[in-house]
Formats: sequence, C-alpha cells, structure tokens
Amino acid sequence: MPDQSPRDLYLDLLIKCLSNLVYGPPPADPWNDGLLRRGFGPGWDRQSPAHTMVGIRRLENLRELVERTIDLEIPGDFIETGVWRGGCCILMRGVLAAKGVHGRKVYAADSFRGLPPPKPDLYPADAGDVHHMMPALAVSLGEVKANFDRYGLLDEQVVFVEGFFSETLPSADVLVMGHILHDWDLNDKRRLIAKAYDALPSGGALIIYEALIDDERRTNVLGLLMSLNMLIETKGGFDYTGADCSTWLREAGFRDTRVEHLVGPDSMVVGMK
Ligand SMILES: C[S@@+](CC[C@H](N)C(=O)[O-])C[C@H]1O[C@@H](n2cnc3c(N)ncnc32)[C@H](O)[C@@H]1O
Repeated sequence: MPDQSPRDLYLDLLIKCLSNLVYGPPPADPWNDGLLRRGFGPGWDRQSPAHTMVGIRRLENLRELVERTIDLEIPGDFIETGVWRGGCCILMRGVLAAKGVHGRKVYAADSFRGLPPPKPDLYPADAGDVHHMMPALAVSLGEVKANFDRYGLLDEQVVFVEGFFSETLPSADVLVMGHILHDWDLNDKRRLIAKAYDALPSGGALIIYEALIDDERRTNVLGLLMSLNMLIETKGGFDYTGADCSTWLREAGFRDTRVEHLVGPDSMVVGMK
C-alpha cells in the first residue's frame, strides 16, 4: 500500500492526468516544467492532449499554494487569467473538492478565443507579435467546460469569465511586486515603478517586497548575498535598501511611503498614489 492519504493520492493522480503523464509522455511544449527548450514555438506540441501547459513541478506548487491558503484561512476565491484548456483551474477546483471546501469559487477568465492582436501604439514592445494568430492558443468555452466535466468538477463553484481581460477584469487598487524589482537594473526598476504608478488609481497602493537590505547595509546578510547573486545572475539586477526604494517611489510620484518588516529576511515598501 502506498504511504499516502486518499487525498494525496487523488491530487497526485489529478496532476498526472492534467499533464498527461498517465497515458503518455509529458507534453513537449517549450514551457513545460520550465525546460524552455530553444527551437519550439508556443503551441508546438499540438498533439499532446494534456489539459495544461504547466508542468508537474509548477502544478504541485499551485496545489500547495491553494492548500496553504485554505489551511491558513486566508479568505477569498481563486482566479486564473488565461486558462487555455482549463487544467490549472481544474486542479484548483480539485483541491477545494479534496479538502471539502464549499464556500470558495474558482474563476476561469479567458477570451476563449486566443490572444487579442497587439496594440503597438499603446505598447510598442508588442509590435509584430504573432501570438494572436495561433489557433493552438484558442480553446473554446465549450471545450474548457467539457474538460472540467471529464473530472466531475463542473459545478456552481466554477465561474467562467468570458472576454478579453481589458473588458472583463477590473483595474486594481493594489499592485504587488514580490521579488521582481531586484532582477532589474536601476533604469528598469524606475521604469517598472513608473508603470505601476500610471496603472493605479488615485489612492491606490504599490507594495514591493524583497529581502530588503537594512539601510546601514550591516545586518540583513541574506539581502546582501541575494544582491551579489543578482549581480552574477542577471544583466544589471541588484537588491536594495528600504530607503533606496522609498526614494524611487517618491521620484515616481508616490506620496506616502513606508517600510515594514515581514517575516524572515523579507520586508515590504508601500507607496500610496
Ligand atoms: C499560454 S495560454 C495559458 C496556459 C494555461 N495557464 C495553462 O495552464 O495551460 C494563454 C491563454 O490566455 C488567454 N489570453 C491571453 N491574453 C488574453 C487577453 N488579453 N484576454 C483574454 N484571454 C487572454 C488565451 O486565450 C489563452 O487561453
């Protein structure tokens, strides 16, 4: 007998089914399990019947995060924006079922017809992008619902939000950048903060958390080591102090800023627009 609870066995099997490990090899899409193999374009492995492009390790991570949210009694529902064949939402619904949770929903938001064409006037970096022309990325609502049904998980705890995100999703009052800014050089850090400022309504907040280095650069060894790591691993990324970050936020226009320690080596900087 395997030394696993029925819940673990069910969720492990669900993950294996969603990624087609039960009947065949894992999909060969370039993003599967972060392999990011060169030479393959999006939707390359069209033959794979897997219900998600997400690989096993990331599915296990998703399961863990949903379980942790439930165990820590953090209130709220779950949403995936961009569900493709629905696999990640099916997993989230499966976790709710396995843990007997009836008071939370899973929102599956997608156009259910692929990506919108790029708007190079608004977003110059997207010019020439061809993802909107890829039929492999367009999965209809009917197909996604049928996939949920296959697992016995299509019910009123699943809500489908159909349409392009620009029309269906509300703009956010709070933006969070967790362990993001340290990947980038100073110019890009400033650019990202400015973009967040533009995207927020007046009164909105930007929360940045990171293994912030203490202002005297003496005590947060992990922050200092992380900075060294970023300098080696990225083109210009580095970690920074709360004072540094507060300065960048104020330069971008944020009025109130405050720095607060979280748990472990992480602290956050909050900027109010
Ligand atoms: C790469 S796939 C997502 C893969 C999926 N998360 C999984 O687990 O396999 C991208 C999905 O996002 C949807 N999508 C991309 N941009 C969108 C937009 N602006 N509005 C609505 N849906 C969008 C596409 O229709 C497609 O289903």
